[in-house]
Amino acid sequence: MVALCSETVLQANIHLRLAIPGDISVLQALIAASVRGLQAQDYTPAQIEGALKTVFGVDSQLIADGTYLVAEAVPSGSESHEPEYDGAASLIAGCGGWSKRKTLYGGDRWTGREDELLDPLHDAAKIRAFFIHPAWARQGIGGMILEACESAARAAGFTRYEMGATLTGAKLFGVKGYVAVKPISIPLMNGEVLPVIHMEKRVSGTPLDSDTRRFRRV
Ligand SMILES: CC(C)(COP(=O)(O)OP(=O)(O)OC[C@H]1O[C@@H](n2cnc3c(N)ncnc32)[C@H](O)[C@@H]1OP(=O)(O)O)[C@@H](O)C(=O)NCCC(=O)NCCS
Repeated sequence: MVALCSETVLQANIHLRLAIPGDISVLQALIAASVRGLQAQDYTPAQIEGALKTVFGVDSQLIADGTYLVAEAVPSGSESHEPEYDGAASLIAGCGGWSKRKTLYGGDRWTGREDELLDPLHDAAKIRAFFIHPAWARQGIGGMILEACESAARAAGFTRYEMGATLTGAKLFGVKGYVAVKPISIPLMNGEVLPVIHMEKRVSGTPLDSDTRRFRRV
């Protein structure tokens, strides 16, 4: 059982809760708005549109596993920051999750999925699919979701975390203690290539044995 409470109050107007299948249509719109609005400094329009069709999107396996979170904004008084996603009002400001399965990145339509379960003693939990709506960027929500995901993965026995980070995401993960392991090039269905970075982090207090780890699983 995942060690995430059903609802966590993290700051005055932001709550974290587990995503449910009924959130998917709002999340799809949020992901498109997030990618188009926040990745423009790091990727070309062709890369962004290709990635939205190929690799970015909801991973419903994470929702089924109870390891995907949404950050909901609770309007306080008359001052609502409620963003709109293509006309559909929603209180969801961002989303992100973690996984006990092998897939490193990619939504439901990504072809490189590997649903096998990881072994927490040997494998790194995957940090997955973080998307914040542009109206809520740089307000600490990505960091909040990350902290909740790390803590849930830690409670499940993992001592390392890793992800395929976009160049945009690497700016958040870099300040949260993740280090680059290697570059990854994701081929997109429109012929473009999306450069991302395989990053990892070890739970503080666990021994650094990255050299032996590299030879342990061949
Ligand atoms: C990456 C992303 C999730 C960050 O979410 P966020 O809620 O804006 O991040 P936070 O507010 O928690 O940022 C915490 C810190 O990370 C760093 N950081 C985050 N985004 C940054 C950016 N675009 N440029 C520079 N530093 C950044 C900063 O140090 C920031 O602290 P500060 O705002 O006080 O300077 C968001 O930009 C996003 O959704 N991007 C588009 C989708 C994407 O690429 N997701 C990543 C998939 S791996």
